[in-house]
Amino acid sequence: VASEYIAKVIKGKPDAILCLATGATPTRTYELLAEKFKRGEFTTDRLIIIKLDEWGGLAMNDSGTCETYLQMHVIAPLKIPSGHFISFESNPADPEKEVARVQEKIRALSPFDLTLLGLGVNGHVGFNEPGEAIGPVHITQLQESTLHHSMVRHSQGIRFGMTIGFDDILRSREIVMLVSGAAKAEQLRRMLKDDINPTFPATYLQKSAHAHVIADKAAAAQL
Ligand code: F6R
Repeated sequence: VASEYIAKVIKGKPDAILCLATGATPTRTYELLAEKFKRGEFTTDRLIIIKLDEWGGLAMNDSGTCETYLQMHVIAPLKIPSGHFISFESNPADPEKEVARVQEKIRALSPFDLTLLGLGVNGHVGFNEPGEAIGPVHITQLQESTLHHSMVRHSQGIRFGMTIGFDDILRSREIVMLVSGAAKAEQLRRMLKDDINPTFPATYLQKSAHAHVIADKAAAAQL
């Protein structure tokens, strides 16, 4: 369903701006999207891809970075032209400067046409962690549960996170949140039913009139 949705956005707007999450949840979606591209269902030479977030302190080519993930699952298979991928440097000399650089880059690109998200076990979205307000691109202090994310189980040296903020996420023309598996059932319920509050940032998505959730049965068990 998700890959169909994204393909439809791209077909309708071949120069679409897509802001994309990494992690376990969207992997199959990206595989299916790549298959559609291979079959010639859409073109990608005018697409712009924005990396939603990144682990700070890892080398760019570390196996755990969002960079490595997106290069492998999106940039290479979809043949995204160089210069069309806007991405945090994972180990910047000056992290403040790096988030300011990315914010400046996306200024002209926001609102994004589509932002594809996953749901953190602690309610984070991108690396907008619990306790954070709606705001711009920023550096985050990653919580313990986030540092235990399966993506970085073989990575060492993470010192902080960098993320697109809810300002730009909520401005997106479309938001698609993917949620799968029983381990996310409580989180999905809270995202939809809790009052909007910073202790569970996913509730901020209730502010968007253009946010969609695609969940499997196990994740939807508490609805
Ligand atoms: C990663 C990201 C994170 C993940 C979330 C869920 O780029 O933005 O917010 O989407 O931690 O991760 P998975 O899908 O691995 O459960």
